[in-house]
Amino acid sequence: MRKKIVAANWKMNLTLEEGKTLVDNIIAGQPALSATKKIVIASPYVHLTQTAAQLNGKDNIHVGAQNCYSEASGAYTGEISAGMLKSAGVEYVIIGHSERREYFNETNTMLVKKTDQALNNGLEVIFCCGEPLAIRDADTQNTYVEKQIKEGLFHLSNEQLKHVVIAYEPIWAIGTGRTASSQQAQDMHNHIRNVIAAQYGQDAASYLTILYGGSCKPSNAAELFACPDVDGGLIGGASLKADEFLGIVSAMSN
Ligand code: PGA
Repeated sequence: MRKKIVAANWKMNLTLEEGKTLVDNIIAGQPALSATKKIVIASPYVHLTQTAAQLNGKDNIHVGAQNCYSEASGAYTGEISAGMLKSAGVEYVIIGHSERREYFNETNTMLVKKTDQALNNGLEVIFCCGEPLAIRDADTQNTYVEKQIKEGLFHLSNEQLKHVVIAYEPIWAIGTGRTASSQQAQDMHNHIRNVIAAQYGQDAASYLTILYGGSCKPSNAAELFACPDVDGGLIGGASLKADEFLGIVSAMSN
């Protein structure tokens, strides 16, 4: 059965102490979730062992990383491999966030290698896609996102795809307060599911979890998550405060 997920992406925020308190507060306030509903907390690299220790043994709440490197090991000063993440207790990794694509020049070719590294090391991948404003204004977002998915994921087998979640994050909605309307989100999520169905079959497409990201908050989460093809959210700003994040989690759990 298709999973629903609310994932926190802390980005480059919070000290170790602040992160610890936030996770404690999320654990304390977390509603009971059925087995197909999950929370993921993608904390910064230096937080991961701490976050993993806090979440150890807890049901339906998992630790994620925000990135990994495209090679297995070697002379890549400052980089972190998927194998290292796995050994630190990490279960999910975000690949291809638009900030990585834009500020760190991550291309679809590089994202293929990162995705392979993650899957080969037993991590679940949250693969991000989404169009900039100029593409949305030109109404060519479907082709744009389809290309990102084809170039980033279509080398995977059906079996591998079961370990991939897609996050649709229109760049114009990230951190801007300007959320996509639930209709815009539903239309794109439906398009993504059709793109996957054409390549991998209807079963794979029905199984795929597709998250929405971009200024998702407690006040709009319920409407977004009510869309038939929106299976939860990837949350930036609103994931940094326990009450806001838990408000979004309850929109999934209802
Ligand atoms: P936002 O970020 O919720 O702050 O818009 C979402 C994301 O970038 O994952």
